[in-house]
Amino acid sequence: MRPNRARLVRRFCRHAALETGFFEERQAYMNSTPHSPAVIPAPVPARLIVGISGASGIVYGITALQLLRRLGIESHLVASKSAIVTLGHETDLKYAELCALADRHYQNSDIGAALASGSFRSLGMLVAPCSIRTLGEISSGVTASLLSRAADVVLKERRRLVLMVRETPLHAGHLQAMLNVTQMGAVVMPPVPAFYARPASLQDMVEQSVGRALDLFGLDSGPHRWGEQTL
Ligand SMILES: Cc1cc2nc3c(=O)[nH]c(=O)nc-3n(C[C@H](O)[C@H](O)[C@H](O)COP(=O)(O)O)c2cc1C
Repeated sequence: MRPNRARLVRRFCRHAALETGFFEERQAYMNSTPHSPAVIPAPVPARLIVGISGASGIVYGITALQLLRRLGIESHLVASKSAIVTLGHETDLKYAELCALADRHYQNSDIGAALASGSFRSLGMLVAPCSIRTLGEISSGVTASLLSRAADVVLKERRRLVLMVRETPLHAGHLQAMLNVTQMGAVVMPPVPAFYARPASLQDMVEQSVGRALDLFGLDSGPHRWGEQTL
């Protein structure tokens, strides 16, 4: 049989590959670190850090913890001293009852807690509500508490940080801090109600805002979605 051109080329290539050790080299390459199973990233644990600071609207943090429990997402709570003050002003809950809504809770002074290290893997951190003081600490990088340290760590590890900043009206310093944290990778999401959702109660409004914040972590708590009823 007269060898055709394609067959000759294939035979030549195979011969050249055997001569030059191409197959051994390719196998060694496939076995090398970038291809070994050890470097396939392990899945991120389904856990979220929830920071509650002393701005008005502690109900946002409480609702976040409730929705996370409903979704089966592990929650790690750190509340500031001022948050415990607003808890007393704005709800009938005791601090222990707030902590019981989370899977784990930490003292804000415990700067040696797991959350203070980048090795603590999570989906990120939600601060709800976020006071101007906490925003300022995160913006400056001067993180004197576990809450702001955990937020800083989330940013340095390039994970998701969502700040439900609550203050009004805002001066240039507040806006500058919001711009700073946005440039550092955080998402500033003031809890602004969506009236098109026709909320029937305050809790509806709160759940809608918190649901939108959880959306930013890829967590679907089923908030009202504009126009989706007609899809
Ligand atoms: C009832 C109450 C409501 C407050 N509301 C706000 C607020 O909406 N926004 C804010 O930035 N600070 C608010 N503050 C002030 C903060 O609690 C205060 O600045 C505190 O130092 C914040 O500390 P933290 O960021 O460590 O929680 C409020 C305080 C109280 C007692």
